[in-house]
Amino acid sequence: MGSEAGRRLNLDTINQHVRAAKYAVRGELAVKSEEYRLALAKGATDLPFKQVISANIGNPQQLDQKPITFFRQVLSLLENPQLLDKPDVLVNELGYKPDVLERARKLLKAVGSVGAYSASNGAPAIRQSVAEFLERRDGFPARWEDIYLSAGASSGVNTLLHIICKDSSSGVLVPIPQYPLYTASLSVLDAQCVPYYLEEHKNWGTDVSAIRSSYDKAVADGIDVRAIVIINPGNPTGASLPESDIRAVLDFAREKRLVVIADEVYQTNVFVGEFISFKRTLRRLQQEQPGAYDAVELASLHSVSKGMVGECGHRGGYFELVGFDPAVQNEIYKFVSIMLCAPVIGQCLVDLMVNPPRPGDPSYDQYRAEYDAIYRGLHERATALHKAFEQMEGVECGAPQGSMYLFPTIRLPPKAAEAAAAEGRTPDEFYCMRLLEATGVCVVPGSGFGQKEGTLHFRTTFLAPGTEWVGSIVKFHREFMDKYR
Ligand SMILES: Cc1ncc(COP(=O)(O)O)c(C=O)c1O
Repeated sequence: MGSEAGRRLNLDTINQHVRAAKYAVRGELAVKSEEYRLALAKGATDLPFKQVISANIGNPQQLDQKPITFFRQVLSLLENPQLLDKPDVLVNELGYKPDVLERARKLLKAVGSVGAYSASNGAPAIRQSVAEFLERRDGFPARWEDIYLSAGASSGVNTLLHIICKDSSSGVLVPIPQYPLYTASLSVLDAQCVPYYLEEHKNWGTDVSAIRSSYDKAVADGIDVRAIVIINPGNPTGASLPESDIRAVLDFAREKRLVVIADEVYQTNVFVGEFISFKRTLRRLQQEQPGAYDAVELASLHSVSKGMVGECGHRGGYFELVGFDPAVQNEIYKFVSIMLCAPVIGQCLVDLMVNPPRPGDPSYDQYRAEYDAIYRGLHERATALHKAFEQMEGVECGAPQGSMYLFPTIRLPPKAAEAAAAEGRTPDEFYCMRLLEATGVCVVPGSGFGQKEGTLHFRTTFLAPGTEWVGSIVKFHREFMDKYR
């Protein structure tokens, strides 16, 4: 056994880009909340709360969202195809509808066994299913050859950033506040994050003049800006972009020859207006001005983790490429091949997500009822949480628009900032830590996503059921303000 001093690896000898990367969604607060959860499970009685609420991460089934029955029934048959030899038992005793069996047989035909590797970019029949879904969604053709199935959208983003970033002078425009996958991945790649600020006073919309000035500054600093990320609907902001914003971004991308990465994982989590895809908008622009937008390269991503599906643990997702050079696509194929393939059961869930039961199918009524109940529940909880924030002193929060989050501004008394500094924390971190200690509710400080200088926020999901935890935030906030005023 080697002594500790003899170890090859220590904090100073590992990859320093990994060390530098920040991922607050699963940072110190999340770790502490897991310690509390364990302590409660072991019967701890010395904590001022009885349960931990993980409002730090969009993980619906951890917070009691039930999986959609049709999806899980099909998956159960994919995992254990022998059950298909007993159709009577499935239908008459377990209540499986005939379309469940049919879909399972079809998917088994497409993938063989879910225990086998698939093609590196995913099973062709499922990619075809995704292409057909995109055609229905956008009203424009989609090619299955341009669809890449991935282990969640995260792995798709990782692939795209690896391909886009050539060296440490490569830069990517990232919205601030943002989901930290982007800054963390760029950090690991030793590439440059070029932040552009979203407009809080305009419902967190994009402002091309802000994007332009970030771009100009980065170029003046010698950064080779190559791509722009847009998260729509937004995380952490919940903003759902109007078509005019999307057009303006595409226009800017055309002008500066930027690859557009449209993270659209929350496309069904929209409460206000409708989701408008980058793909549809690009195709419309191409129709309106033939030739002008042909060189725009767009990668758009989706996932089984969000929406009413909420199957984060199954790690399924895809991205579609539009306008990419076929030689680059070959390199992307090679890159994804290094990881062999996305989990095949997750690929099958992608098929189910994009091709759910339709009206008239035996499973449709139940599917619809479950889907609508989840949607309604999310909207109700978002509204209740928003209402609570409206009552809280120094807290401002726009009405919920979409995704799974609210991102209120908090104004804290100067004494709270002093107490935070004494602990070596930012004031929002300090606030979130005290909130966790007092209530068991784990949220993420705004600094984990980036925020304009001089502003403070926190992000909370509105996934947790019940209202007790919301009440506990209101009570905590009042006491916190009284203590530090
Ligand atoms: C904006 C955004 N993109 C991507 C992801 C990653 O999702 P997954 O890898 O589970 O598909 C998340 C997860 O929260 C997200 O919020």
